[in-house]
Amino acid sequence: MTSPRHQKPKKRGYRPKLIETVFMDFISERTLPFLSPSPKVKVLSKTWLSDDLLALRLLPNRAWRRQYQQIYEPVKTNESNKSHWQTGQHILLSVTIDGVCLHRSYSLVGLPEWDVLAEDETFGEAKPQHEQDMVLTIAIKRQGRVSNHLAVAVQAGDVLDCGLPSGQFTLRQHEVTADEPVAFVCAGSGVTPILGLVTDALQTGSPERPVTLLYYAKTPVFMTQWQTLQRQYPNFRCHIVATTFAGSYILGKRHLDKAVLDEVGISLRHKIYACGATPMLSSLTMALSEQAMEAGQDINAPNPLDNLILERFGRVGLTDAQLANVNLATEDEENIAINEHATVLLARRGVSFHVVNATPSILLGAERAQIYLPYGCRQGMCQICRCDKQSGIVKNLLTGEVSDDGAESIRICVSAPVTDVVLDV
Ligand code: FES
Repeated sequence: MTSPRHQKPKKRGYRPKLIETVFMDFISERTLPFLSPSPKVKVLSKTWLSDDLLALRLLPNRAWRRQYQQIYEPVKTNESNKSHWQTGQHILLSVTIDGVCLHRSYSLVGLPEWDVLAEDETFGEAKPQHEQDMVLTIAIKRQGRVSNHLAVAVQAGDVLDCGLPSGQFTLRQHEVTADEPVAFVCAGSGVTPILGLVTDALQTGSPERPVTLLYYAKTPVFMTQWQTLQRQYPNFRCHIVATTFAGSYILGKRHLDKAVLDEVGISLRHKIYACGATPMLSSLTMALSEQAMEAGQDINAPNPLDNLILERFGRVGLTDAQLANVNLATEDEENIAINEHATVLLARRGVSFHVVNATPSILLGAERAQIYLPYGCRQGMCQICRCDKQSGIVKNLLTGEVSDDGAESIRICVSAPVTDVVLDV
């Protein structure tokens, strides 16, 4: 009989969790990406809501739902007491374009409990979704590198990396009470979080609480849903301006100003949620300030704009003149002027420097500020200067291509800032 000392130890091998996960992810990525242990979503369908707004319905995989349950339902046992993502939140999608991984946030459309764009179902009458077939819907405008890729290259059945819902553009985050008047102002693709927020405000508020929508778009979307809500809720005031149809203008005006706000009854008495591009948000802020001044707002009173909650879409940090240029970008990206007074922040080092006149690249700008960053060829070839941009828009000096304002990897020897930029350096 063999003594225990001489028994061969069982071969168990060294299987650290990290390698297991990374290895499994590597294999499944190439075979069955939807079964990956990483959170992902499968594109179920693509539907054009208008000429320039495309809706994507996304089915989360098991890993995504597991993480979702851990975060949103850690202690819930009662079915009626379930917690979900909140209307107005967004998800982070990742795509790889030309070998570079890019990330962008997209607002979720509608409500967590309903698949709002499911075929053969009417909004508000759809069956509640089961946990395992929760469908997320986003709507994207074909502008910028990632959105364009999602609209053109990504097809139904494709699988994408996807984060969990997050964001504070929600009713609960700002503690809106059931009787508080609420107004929603949006333009273009800024409507995507607003449909869910309006519905949420109507469903959770008192029947007397005024809920007002002011929505500008070339071709307004979700018209069936708005009409359904108007039928169901007498306290819902809906003002939709199709900017190409003069008959829909308010006071004969295509744009928002103080007179328009007065006409539709939106004022600082409301909690105001606004979502859209910078020019529309600037007009709204100005109109509300004029209202406050006209009402003789005490200069020592709390800030009259405290009730205004903004979610900015598109390029941030640009002046109106630059925005005008950026809007031309899809046609002629060469036209975009480089910002000669941009600030570049090196987030990990905690230092920043200004890019001054005639500084062609971020790398050179840093060196002129006595900050030395790694480099090799200085011509965009060796990749030694490559680093992660967290935010801000840059222009590629070799191709003239203008980036989005989200996270991506850039070569700082051939990138010039268009706006203020934050680098993960
Ligand atoms: S230094 Fe070589 S790519 Fe930038």
